[in-house]
Amino acid sequence: MCGIVAYIGNKEAYPILIKGLHRLEYRGYDSAGIALLNGGLSVHKTKGKVSVLEEHMKDFDKSGTIGIAHTRWATHGEPNTQNAHPHYSFSRKIAIIHNGIIENYSTLKKELINRGYEFHSDTDTEVLVNLIEDIQTKEEVNLEEAVRIALNQVIGAYAIVILSQEHPDMLIAARKGSPLVIGIGENDFYLASDATPIIEYTKNVVYLDDEEVAILKRGSELKIKTIKNEEKTPYIQELEWNLNELEKGGFDHFMLKEIYEQPTSIRDSFRGRLHPDKGTVSLGGIIDYEQKILNADRIIIAACGTSWHAGLVGEYLLEEIARIPVEVEYASEFRYRNPIITENDVMIAISQSGETADTLAAIELAKEKGATVLGICNVVGSSIARATDAGVYTHAGPEIGVASTKAFTAQVTVLTLMALRFAQLKGTLPKSEYVRLLHEMELIPEKVKKVLDDNGLIEEIAGKFKDSRNFLYLGRGYNFPVALEGALKLKEISYIHAEGYPAAEMKHGPIALIDKDMPVVFIAPNIGIYEKVVSNIQEVKARNGVVIAIVTEGDTTVKNMADYTIEIPETEEMFVPLLATIPLQKLSYHIAVMRGCNVDQPRNLAKSVTVE
Ligand code: F6R
Repeated sequence: MCGIVAYIGNKEAYPILIKGLHRLEYRGYDSAGIALLNGGLSVHKTKGKVSVLEEHMKDFDKSGTIGIAHTRWATHGEPNTQNAHPHYSFSRKIAIIHNGIIENYSTLKKELINRGYEFHSDTDTEVLVNLIEDIQTKEEVNLEEAVRIALNQVIGAYAIVILSQEHPDMLIAARKGSPLVIGIGENDFYLASDATPIIEYTKNVVYLDDEEVAILKRGSELKIKTIKNEEKTPYIQELEWNLNELEKGGFDHFMLKEIYEQPTSIRDSFRGRLHPDKGTVSLGGIIDYEQKILNADRIIIAACGTSWHAGLVGEYLLEEIARIPVEVEYASEFRYRNPIITENDVMIAISQSGETADTLAAIELAKEKGATVLGICNVVGSSIARATDAGVYTHAGPEIGVASTKAFTAQVTVLTLMALRFAQLKGTLPKSEYVRLLHEMELIPEKVKKVLDDNGLIEEIAGKFKDSRNFLYLGRGYNFPVALEGALKLKEISYIHAEGYPAAEMKHGPIALIDKDMPVVFIAPNIGIYEKVVSNIQEVKARNGVVIAIVTEGDTTVKNMADYTIEIPETEEMFVPLLATIPLQKLSYHIAVMRGCNVDQPRNLAKSVTVE
């Protein structure tokens, strides 16, 4: 939610800030703004995408070696120019950019209005910058101290960067609950909500911790203090991602590139962990917690959205292969329903971004109750990665398309490894079968490649159904979560209404929807309870429904019934989600493109949801 980028050093700030905003646009894109210090403090803001801001800036002085910039996903106040960031303080001497929510903003605002402050926006951010200014004047303290005092008064989440006309050689930044990364250059500093705008300039970064304030002065070392004024030593880490991963690399959209990256991202997620020749799986990140997991009463998986769907696949895997009871929870529901959690529970929190507010809150709740919390995250050093006791990273690389694709299959890969590791430790499978599964898993990236190479069939099917108003996705067992994920992908990027259901549940309601205009996508591989799914397909055909089926290569039974079939290679049942998801991602992608939708930045969505 919202992207922050800032620069201080000896280079021109504007090109760095604008490029950074483009890289961060996936986090929010309803308005954008920039503040530069070149003589005076100038703030420029526009509604809409970063390109609109860029066009607007053509007529203005863009010089200066210090600046802050922001791309917004609206929370307080509608997306318009007034509410866009940066916000000036009342005197117009300070400008602020902010990601997060100040929950007690209305009380603070009333006090400031009583003290003569006027407001030009509906945002909580303008309240914060005026609070800082008010403290500075009232208490006669320097800016750094005023920021600390103000942050002790606010309730909520923030990542902020402050630029003051009176301090042309300094930026002040702080975080609580919303991420902020500082890039340490040769003679300069870069600041951003995530590392994507920083990578091309430096690989040395410091992740600010909650309630920490960073003081970035030109020509000085980075200084970090807590909001209680305790000095901290910056911990410099090296970034693993590289610049190529942030470019489209010849694809029309990031989403398509990321779909095609899956053979690599799946392999990268099991590389060094899967050892078919030794007949073992090793997960270094959680090795110290293995005994705890094996002795646990149950595993609670907490996540949101696509990550929750991966969690559902995880439930099938962990229960079937490792025989450990699993419950999968929407983090947003779990945190508010007074759940029963004990010290014998192990939570696995799944998150691509590692910043999802509800998932973080579920983790905190589980920790409070004494449970062990493990993470499956894609972003190294993210808030969730740091809040958990231990974890296993998915090595999917940066996911820029707002709709999650390669992160999902990487999460499923890691959950599969976990299930196989615990199965190994518990001895739940005969050795020969176990080794066969490990060998089969090693083949999955090649099989994914084969699915991707569909000779235009999926695009052709997309063309036939691009104008449909509703879609139904049905699957059973491991493929029920795949159906949910297929439906989510379609609705979020094409705005076509789509529902995912366990295929047999169709009879209990959704069957009423079926007619000749209703495409029904079946995930129907020739394994598991295939015959049951075949019966469900017959039920749909009997009501004139149109069936698009994902089938195993060489299948003839479903092929004879369905209107369209898409083949996936044969594999073990537990690996089918890794293959069957791919054509569904492509189907959504092509339909969205044909409908003229913005695939990488669908309306109303943002990549990481840092508000509840
Ligand atoms: C859908 C999608 C979202 C995310 C959800 C959780 O394509 O991307 O549903 O999966 O917002 O995000 P993370 O995984 O970052 O916690």
